[in-house]
Amino acid sequence: MSKKISIAIDGPAAAGKSTVAKIIAEKLSYIYIDTGAMYRALTYKAIQESLDLECEEQLINTLQIIEIELKPSENGQLVFINQENITDKIRDQDVTSAVSIVAKHRKVREEMVRRQQNFAKNGGVVMDGRDIGTHVIPHAEVKIFLLASVDERALRRHEENTAKGYNSNLEKLKEEIALRDKLDSEREVAPLKKAVDAIEIDTTSLSIQEVVSRIMEIVEGKN
Ligand code: CDP
Ligand code: CDP
Repeated sequence: MSKKISIAIDGPAAAGKSTVAKIIAEKLSYIYIDTGAMYRALTYKAIQESLDLECEEQLINTLQIIEIELKPSENGQLVFINQENITDKIRDQDVTSAVSIVAKHRKVREEMVRRQQNFAKNGGVVMDGRDIGTHVIPHAEVKIFLLASVDERALRRHEENTAKGYNSNLEKLKEEIALRDKLDSEREVAPLKKAVDAIEIDTTSLSIQEVVSRIMEIVEGKN
């Protein structure tokens, strides 16, 4: 495959975005950028510093003094802020519950989008998030919108937690995912929304391999 393109993958929590984005990036030797990890990194820092998550000014002042790095490794992508490895910490429940509040602020989003566009400027990227096809790389050659039912997505998270030996409550996961879907879809700035030119794939009854194959067919059609 010769021409390096940009691939945007959006959708709600646990639709499989990062799982398939990583596989596709590896197949194409592209960079993978997990934009959710960037919002999670700021949320982690905000909680650590006891910031008021409703206060845009406090959040943007903190964001301006932190460098967020996403580094590929053999064990998946590592996330750093100012050289501190926070890869596992950003998946904690307190971060997950708060991230959609942090992500609703206009100035926070503008700065995140600026950094994401900078990461993507040379093409050859697979980027996943909520507003990638609509705002971050609206010129992306391939735009995918992944969906799955709330029950299926909660079950996927439950199975992940159980496999890691964590306590997990399926009903609570359903509630947390449904609330985050609502906050992300109803916020004023860059809400979670399918781009008009995105291809929607309902993954509820598809395997990871099936989703990857469908996206690869679309990518190959662009070359
Ligand atoms: O992996 P999961 O789907 O649970 O979430 P994530 O992709 O890590 O994103 C965490 C949160 O960050 C989302 O629920 C959104 O509130 C926010 N986010 C966003 O607003 N815009 C993005 N491009 C990516 C994430
Ligand atoms: O990034 P996003 O929050 O959209 O989802 P994820 O972090 O990739 O998590 C999706 C979970 O569902 C992972 O445990 C996958 O193994 C599983 N899964 C999937 O991604 N795609 C399917 N078609 C079926 C299961």
